[in-house]
Amino acid sequence: MPTRRSFVTGAASLAVMTILDGGRRVHGATDYVVSVENAEAHLIEDPARKTGVWSYGGSVPGPLLRGRRGEPISIKVINRLEQPTTIHWHGLRIENAMDGVSGLTQDPIPPGGEFVYSFVPPDAGTYWYHPHHRSWEQLARGLYGTLLVDGDDRDGEFDRDYTIVADDWRLEDSGAFHEASLGNLMDWSHAGRLGNILTLNGKAYERLAVVPGERVRLRFINSANARIMSFGVKGQAAWIIALDGQPVPPQRAPEAGVSVAPSQRVDLLVDVEGQAGDEIAIVETSGDSNLVAGYLVCEKGQSERQRQPGAPESLRANDVPRPDLANATRSALVMTGGAMRFLQSATYKGESLDGRTLARKHGQTWAFNGVAGMTDDPLFKAGRGETVRLTLKNETLWPHAIHLHGHHFQIVSRQAAGASTASPPEGAEVDAMRDTVLVDREETVEIALLADNPGKWMLHCHMLEHQASGMSTWFLVS
Ligand code: C2O
Ligand code: CU
Repeated sequence: MPTRRSFVTGAASLAVMTILDGGRRVHGATDYVVSVENAEAHLIEDPARKTGVWSYGGSVPGPLLRGRRGEPISIKVINRLEQPTTIHWHGLRIENAMDGVSGLTQDPIPPGGEFVYSFVPPDAGTYWYHPHHRSWEQLARGLYGTLLVDGDDRDGEFDRDYTIVADDWRLEDSGAFHEASLGNLMDWSHAGRLGNILTLNGKAYERLAVVPGERVRLRFINSANARIMSFGVKGQAAWIIALDGQPVPPQRAPEAGVSVAPSQRVDLLVDVEGQAGDEIAIVETSGDSNLVAGYLVCEKGQSERQRQPGAPESLRANDVPRPDLANATRSALVMTGGAMRFLQSATYKGESLDGRTLARKHGQTWAFNGVAGMTDDPLFKAGRGETVRLTLKNETLWPHAIHLHGHHFQIVSRQAAGASTASPPEGAEVDAMRDTVLVDREETVEIALLADNPGKWMLHCHMLEHQASGMSTWFLVS
């Protein structure tokens, strides 16, 4: 019988092995050493078709990094690529200098260079790491990994804990990475780089061992450049227990699957109903037909877990400050551009340009408040401790996954296209503190954050082609 919270999983033990032979695990000054390097991956079932990828420590996803809430962790990064890079710790409310945003919080790590990230994760939960320098290329090529932060033993009742990193890859028939379409303006002005191959944990069909009767925690991470995915476990009752790393009051997961936009995380608890030998499909349901993406494989035995009727207990909440809605300053972000509603004009690097020049000369097809790309001035400035209510107005015909660095925020309301009034969020988002929110086409979403982390923080669309093609800005907390 596996004990509670044990990681019996392929994914986890493999990741640990990668650390051991791909680098060193050093105690003391540096907890992890991660080398950024070229590698080959088997992303397609056919073993003859391999893909040249960029990797952390030789594997895709990179090594599982694991820290504890409130305890320092440090990661030495060695860049063996021919391109500069950085690492951003997505969703972690850490100090600004460690946020890993090239050009805003640090210079990129040059080829052959090293950088040590060290920080104290304030929240337990499911996080991940990826470059923040040419993200659209570097993530597409395979640079991402999981960072789990453990709390204490009261962090939940379950028998197994699996991380599922989902990605869609655009590959050629040979299995080679599709280079020719990298930076394709058509992708940039439409949905972004969508793939043709889906992997969970870098595998065509991930297989995760379970024992009938067990309660299993599945932590889904969407590391795709641009694809909004939905996940479910066929024929099994599942509960949503956390969004973007932060616990939510457990809610029944919708039968149609749980939506996970690029960079978002959803933690599910699944009570396994089945018999030894059963293969229970993990399905991706965003398309017209459900895609089997992997399996929970039932092994011999029967868990002795006593099934309690009703919802599971909540995970223990982190200490994330709640915004004070009644005493807030306001800011607004209007998204424009993209295919079917192209920009007439926008400001780019201080110059007002017409849409055609923006696209052809600068690859810019989207704008935030009439500005394409980063500005000298922040979107808003907030004093420490101030609540900011931020209206995200999507005037484009495409959904966008808006991500804020260094903070988690509450969703105040949503107003769908054509609706005359805004309504409070529904489902698991009611009490959620998220770091990324999906704003549907022509939808307006109001969010609120308590600005308590000083520094310069990115705010961008996590559809990485959109980010590169205009949808990036920043805010200042002083
Ligand atoms: Cu996942 Cu700006 O990052
Ligand atoms: Cu977008």
